[in-house]
Amino acid sequence: MKQMLLKILENFKNKNILVIGDIMLDKYIWGDVSRISPEAPVQVVNVIRETYEAGGAANVANNISALSGRAVMVGIAGNDSAKAILLKELKKKGITTDGIVTDSDKPTTQKIRVIGRSQQLLRVDYENKEHVHKKVETLIIKFLERSVKDMDVVVISDYAKGVITREIGSKAIELCNKLNKPIIVDPKPKHRDFYSNVTLITPNNAEASEMAGIEDGSDEAVIEIGNRLLKQLNTSVLVTRGEKGMSLFEPGGSITHIPTKAREVYSLIGAGDTVVAAIALAMASGASLKDAAVIANIAAGIKVGKIGTATVSIDEIKKEIKDL
Ligand SMILES: Nc1ncnc2c1ncn2[C@@H]1O[C@H](COP(=O)(O)OP(=O)(O)OP(=O)(O)O)[C@@H](O)[C@H]1O
Ligand SMILES: [Mg+2]
Repeated sequence: MKQMLLKILENFKNKNILVIGDIMLDKYIWGDVSRISPEAPVQVVNVIRETYEAGGAANVANNISALSGRAVMVGIAGNDSAKAILLKELKKKGITTDGIVTDSDKPTTQKIRVIGRSQQLLRVDYENKEHVHKKVETLIIKFLERSVKDMDVVVISDYAKGVITREIGSKAIELCNKLNKPIIVDPKPKHRDFYSNVTLITPNNAEASEMAGIEDGSDEAVIEIGNRLLKQLNTSVLVTRGEKGMSLFEPGGSITHIPTKAREVYSLIGAGDTVVAAIALAMASGASLKDAAVIANIAAGIKVGKIGTATVSIDEIKKEIKDL
């Protein structure tokens, strides 16, 4: 078992993963606060520095890069100054940005946090969640038609901010099925019907319940939820269950529960992105779904023990496997 998992990890290097979804830019404005504005009863932040991170679907790409894979990012950015910063952040991590289409009808999705003396004071969002228009949709579909054939695995990371339309979703799925490429979806419940006939969906517990129409959040209900999604959408299902780990449902009725190791949790943000990235690379490396899920569970466990959206490395996963 351990030898098998270690061998899979050895193969992560340079695997090609196409990630399509809603890209965001996280901006942090860090400063000092020492006075109240004379203009209004608000604090004045004296800015010390600004930092950026590519987030949303791009965080899946960040995780793939950190695990030594090659990520090709497909999505949109606005015709604005945030776009240049976003592309720079992605390129810094070695992520291919040719699949990012400029959509002049929308701003680059951006979340700006203003932090004064290590306290978040304000968040400012730029976003327009409407589905992309036909022109942009066509450009994205054309990119998929050109590039899917060169990929090992395709990931749809849907944050329901407009990129994953029915047409784009079904085109990606159709191409993957035709070319025999695994396709993994981190879903949003409201787009449930877009995801039939994929290889795997990775909803968390709440998303899975909503998608299956079963409100019950109990341990027993997970089985019914997983089985129902598997049948209705004709796909394997990995329900991520926070500190309870994950449950994998496969065609033929196999159900595998994978528990987490107890650990101190620092940040849950982005654990789902780590899961998808690790599964994609494991599948690209020839792993079974079960082995891929075990590796992803270990990777996500390491991730939650870190601060913020920090990524996980292959060496960290190897170390955990050796200690299993
Ligand atoms: N408290 C925890 N202890 C150990 N591992 C955890 C914990 N919380 C989450 N994980 C790991 O992270 C995985 C994904 O977590 P979760 O089910 O919360 O995903 P999610 O809600 O999609 O996350 P995200 O907010 O990133 O979208 C879990 O399956 C597990 O492997
Ligand atoms: Mg999630």
